[in-house]
Amino acid sequence: MNESKVKIGIIGAGNIGGVHAAQFSRLGDECELTAITDVFRPQAAKRAEKHGIKHVLDTPDELIKHPEVDAVIIGVPNQYHADLAIKALKAGKHVLLEKPMALNGTEARRIYEASRQTDKLLMVSHQMRFESVPMMIKEQIDRGELGRIYTAKTGWYRRKGIPGWGTWFTRMNESGGGPLIDIGVHMLDLALYLMGNPKPVSVYGATYAEFGPKQRGIGTWGKPNWNGVFDVEDLATALIKMEDGTALSLEVSWAVHMDTDNTPFIHLMGTEGGASYRGETGKLLMERFDRPFEVELKKPEEDEGERLRLSRYFLECIREGKEPMSSAWTGLTNNMVLDAIYESSRTGHEVRLDWSGI
Ligand SMILES: NC(=O)c1ccc[n+]([C@@H]2O[C@H](COP(=O)([O-])OP(=O)(O)OC[C@H]3O[C@@H](n4cnc5c(N)ncnc54)[C@H](O)[C@@H]3O)[C@@H](O)[C@H]2O)c1
Repeated sequence: MNESKVKIGIIGAGNIGGVHAAQFSRLGDECELTAITDVFRPQAAKRAEKHGIKHVLDTPDELIKHPEVDAVIIGVPNQYHADLAIKALKAGKHVLLEKPMALNGTEARRIYEASRQTDKLLMVSHQMRFESVPMMIKEQIDRGELGRIYTAKTGWYRRKGIPGWGTWFTRMNESGGGPLIDIGVHMLDLALYLMGNPKPVSVYGATYAEFGPKQRGIGTWGKPNWNGVFDVEDLATALIKMEDGTALSLEVSWAVHMDTDNTPFIHLMGTEGGASYRGETGKLLMERFDRPFEVELKKPEEDEGERLRLSRYFLECIREGKEPMSSAWTGLTNNMVLDAIYESSRTGHEVRLDWSGI
């Protein structure tokens, strides 16, 4: 074994565990996949065989403690994120944790505190930050071309896309919520990142469940379990206000009767220019020669992919000992906002975020 390579163990060999295994396998000069585990062992064995992973282990505890593991990838249902991430950090391992960072703000805070007590790094897996169009937009923001971004609008409306009805995805105690915590967290994360990480202070939101409880709006992702439960929302909408006066509107659905192209979007409105992101395309917008002026953005045809860039960046952070941009702090911020949206929907009131002691 090459000692300079980062030795990686994967907890959870489902969809996303497979994605990570495939991506890190492409970075064989920098890392080595050494161990994998899943409660359903044959699934772990299958991935191990495909990617040449030496150790198929029975439990996450064994993997976390394994001497041939420096960094742990956690790709299991949301309810297990906090305990596993904290155990891994305490065992002196770096962590790449799937989104959402945690089931809720309380659990996220536990992770954040644990991450502050170790020199190991924790990164939340938000690959949209590594997509080509958001990267092009970020470059222009950093050059000051948009001026001060004072408001933004983001969302992702899926018309008929409830994933895995009745599985952990649609059970509140295992997922923490519906589209808001599933795809909304990606949009919230990306929008806040592009806005320059302003501190959210208050939230007004509403959530609805008009499709799921009637077993309608079912998507193709994940096999349904009709004996299961759907007790999460299928649409959420919110306005998030920041300490610096900026505002972000967020709208997501798994299912809706709406003329939507199912594409994630962000509109950033700055004092000198604007930017729009729509999946693989985007625009920079400004006023020039007293006229509206636009530049089209497009994902290049030869693009190695955001997930590979994320994996490489994670290894780079380990090597250079630097704090990842998608950190325990930004993960906690996201979870606190999501909690506040759910609370606002429940109470009918604006919810102020409690940053005391953080
Ligand atoms: N970044 C992204 O775009 C993205 C995409 C999909 C999923 N995810 C996230 O990845 C996580 C997993 O989602 P998925 O789609 O891979 O789900 P999945 O159901 O396909 O896979 C989860 C796997 O974890 C295993 N598992 C469950 N509990 C376990 C435990 N306690 N210990 C070990 N293994 C356990 C299951 O047997 C299953 O194989 C979720 O947090 C989800 O939000 C992120």
